[in-house]
Amino acid sequence: GKVHYREFVLKEANFTRLCETKSMLVVNDSFPGPVIRVTKGDTVYVNVQNQGNYGLTIHWHGVHQPRNSWSDGPEYITQCPIEPKSNFTYEIIFSDEEGTLWWHAHSDWTRHSVHGAIVILPKEETGYPFLQPDGEEILVFGSWYKGDVNKEVNEDLETGNVTPQSNAYTINGQPGDLCPCSNESTYRWQVEHGKTYLLRLVSAVMNVEIYFAIAQHNLTVVGMSGSYVKPILTDVVMISPGQTMDVLVTANQPLGRYYMAARQYDSIRQGVKNYDKENVTAILEYKGNYTPSVSPSFPNNLPTYADFNPAIEFMKRIRSLANKDHPINVPQNITTRMYVTASENNVLVDLGGENVTALASSLNNISWVNPTTDVLLAYYRNISGIYTADFPDNPPSFFNFTEDDSPDDTTLSVQGTKVRMLNYNEEVEIVFQGTNLLDVSMDHPMHLHGYSFYVIGSGYGVFDIETDPKGYNFDDPPKLNTVTLPKNGWVAIRFKASNPGVWLWHCHYERHLSWGMSSVFIVKNGGTPETSIREPPPYLPPCKDSFTS
Ligand code: C2O
Ligand code: CU
Repeated sequence: GKVHYREFVLKEANFTRLCETKSMLVVNDSFPGPVIRVTKGDTVYVNVQNQGNYGLTIHWHGVHQPRNSWSDGPEYITQCPIEPKSNFTYEIIFSDEEGTLWWHAHSDWTRHSVHGAIVILPKEETGYPFLQPDGEEILVFGSWYKGDVNKEVNEDLETGNVTPQSNAYTINGQPGDLCPCSNESTYRWQVEHGKTYLLRLVSAVMNVEIYFAIAQHNLTVVGMSGSYVKPILTDVVMISPGQTMDVLVTANQPLGRYYMAARQYDSIRQGVKNYDKENVTAILEYKGNYTPSVSPSFPNNLPTYADFNPAIEFMKRIRSLANKDHPINVPQNITTRMYVTASENNVLVDLGGENVTALASSLNNISWVNPTTDVLLAYYRNISGIYTADFPDNPPSFFNFTEDDSPDDTTLSVQGTKVRMLNYNEEVEIVFQGTNLLDVSMDHPMHLHGYSFYVIGSGYGVFDIETDPKGYNFDDPPKLNTVTLPKNGWVAIRFKASNPGVWLWHCHYERHLSWGMSSVFIVKNGGTPETSIREPPPYLPPCKDSFTS
């Protein structure tokens, strides 16, 4: 593949949205940030210069980075932060990914302003597995906060409070003309009648799923998470934080202007509150001579925030291509089986000498705590005392997870830096189980770094080990890097641990990540240089404690 060089300059800049101006950290003065465009198999060096006020890292979401955890990015997992006035050059190695992915900051909540799309074109000799589109467009969905969200979050985390809610959603940085002071700046996409476009969707939204639709236009989903899927013809898609989607749209409607709109799908508060004011819009605008109507038409099929079924129906339809050119290879000799509960619960924290309950999230009742030296360096250099290798394969107790009968010992999670070791090429099955601890349940978009996994099954209620595996799909399961664990349900995934390194896995709701809904796989080397973690780059951002100086 080709080699590309890019400069990412992180700097504070002023942005005006919703009638107010604020300064926030962005890359190369733009929000969303620059697009990385490559062909399958290329390598990109991104030199990140931090001219901001605090340390941070950048993650290349969905790029498998074979043997190269060093450039994966999550703070205190594979590196320490790039401090202000310093820089770090990431080496992003593309291998089998094709389609749309994205990059984002992986420190605090900075990803709300530091993110952008990654476009991976097919090799010229192979092309797309569908008719070559006439054009392309990228839509990045984001969350807008009027205040300094990092500051607010850090205070909330310290005191155990709920984290801030966004004030609007954005499409390519703009809330759209249904929001105050946003008329002039609404994002517009111009299309030519009769042409078919490849629409690349990225959800950089922080804490909720969204529904997206275009008035009077059909959507054909052809890719997700950087791999192709069997075409799904639909009028609405549901997209979780962290997910990316490739969608074909044909401009076949009467010349005019049409709203492209998104609205949150809130699996937690169904039936409680009206979120309809939080519609975000952009405008699809036909080129040509016509008198546009006063207001573009709105996609009246866009489900409401409390509408469960369109999300379920959409998720059920995702299948991989599974053909000769895009074969699948689902692991069948499972040697590691894990059953992992994802919960919102509590921890006890010491607040000025007093023990108080704080909000927390956990996997198998363990709330992840970041170390001060990154896990990768500690593993690679055999530094002890940074993490323990005892992440459990099962929850501490079994009960009816999705009912409101949580035993007391599960409502408090245990804090720790517990990783799970995997042997090279081990075949892993994980069943994620949603819970209703403290009477709170919701979807969780579960993401694994360094891999894509096959989603072989999902369902509602408590996973039944006798009957549910009978329904597993081994024919055409989708291959994703981020899967939506449905509210009060389960999802089963499989992958082969063929990528040695240190890989974070977590819920992609930012508040759950910061409350500890994450853990780490350390995949051991395979015994030859070609199956081992690469040499570290010559310069790594130093960690603040003495081990690494
Ligand atoms: Cu999109 Cu851990 O990341
Ligand atoms: Cu979650």
